[in-house]
Amino acid sequence: MKPEEFLHYQLKTMETVLKEDIQYHGKNYWKEVYFIPNALTPIGVNDVDLSIDFMGKHLKYPICVGSLAGGYKKFIPINEKIAEFTAKYNIAQGVGDQRCILQDDADEDALKSYQVVREKNPDGLVLANISGTVILESKDYVKDVQKIVDFIKADGVEIWVSPLLDILVDPRNTGYQGLIERIHNLTYQLHVPVFIKSFTTGLSNEDIRPLWDAGVAGINIQGVGGTSIARIETVKDLSTSQKQTYPPIKRPFDFWGIPTVWSLLDISLRPENREIPLIVGGGIRNGREAVKALALGADLVSFAYPVLIEIMEDFGYPDEENLKNWFLKIITQMKITMSLLGVRNIKELRQIVRNRTILIGRTHEWVRGRNLQYPPAHYKDVCSP
Ligand SMILES: Cc1cc2nc3c(=O)[nH]c(=O)nc-3n(C[C@H](O)[C@H](O)[C@H](O)COP(=O)(O)O)c2cc1C
Repeated sequence: MKPEEFLHYQLKTMETVLKEDIQYHGKNYWKEVYFIPNALTPIGVNDVDLSIDFMGKHLKYPICVGSLAGGYKKFIPINEKIAEFTAKYNIAQGVGDQRCILQDDADEDALKSYQVVREKNPDGLVLANISGTVILESKDYVKDVQKIVDFIKADGVEIWVSPLLDILVDPRNTGYQGLIERIHNLTYQLHVPVFIKSFTTGLSNEDIRPLWDAGVAGINIQGVGGTSIARIETVKDLSTSQKQTYPPIKRPFDFWGIPTVWSLLDISLRPENREIPLIVGGGIRNGREAVKALALGADLVSFAYPVLIEIMEDFGYPDEENLKNWFLKIITQMKITMSLLGVRNIKELRQIVRNRTILIGRTHEWVRGRNLQYPPAHYKDVCSP
């Protein structure tokens, strides 16, 4: 997609996300990760410390706001509020795909929608964002990626991939041939760490090994379970009367991909992946699910849609009070869960995972089917790339 087409696409996506039901409604399988409580916990809620070091920065909470917006005037207040929020609570954030700033005649408002992020969050952990397809189409991809990084003084860059989205948007799409070689070059030539990010369809061990070997600094798993890119594309094409049909019209690929928790297990349960920094999201909706993700190896848990809808009471009216209340609720739920498990911090959480977590149902079948060992022989230490 050309930058100007992409901007239109982003705007239409945002409108669809804010007005329509684009969430995945199947099981997200976090309930099949079962915590065994500590009936004699010695840890009070206020004893719990959720802080973590990640990418050389100390974060008060192991949370990242997923990439959401950028490139349009209407997105300036959204990015402004998100950056104020991430700065205030000392958490990480991504930004929306930045391809529009690569144009020589980039619109002032488009630029502003990204500049505002560093203005409002000068010291926080901010990740630049660009699609793998842009890297493949670029004549000088190292220069381009360096440009988007420098533009927001990013701490790292996320390269997102979604073959499903590419095909839904343009069935002539030819895939990602050559991307791993380009990522390999980027990891050598850029001055910041490179992350690879899936876009709501998950990643498997087979996907990530060549990327890790190519030098990526970490993986952002965004699996099936929350915002559904297939639902967004389905709903965009429907007429008003079709949208009112109940049950909602589905297309065969609405549920394509790996549920987030299965994707996480597929990667984190393998001892050879124990050093890989992981950001995990896609359908994480409460503090208990967030703690499960951290216990199973996520370093940061990411939320995108919940942040967007909390901040936007209506398109155009960002509301920071809603966002603050939602965030404090999530943090409290995380602390209560950790207290009830008897752990004070993320390091201790990882240490008890073998004894206090069991996998049931289809999640257990996934682990068996993928020849994974559970409980794991290792636990992941708290790491910092
Ligand atoms: C309106 C909207 C725009 C998004 N734009 C981007 C983007 O530009 N780049 C990207 O990597 N992810 C993008 N995402 C994906 C999110 O960062 C996140 O991975 C996804 O929504 C799953 O998380 P969730 O279930 O918490 O929403 C977007 C999501 C939404 C809802």
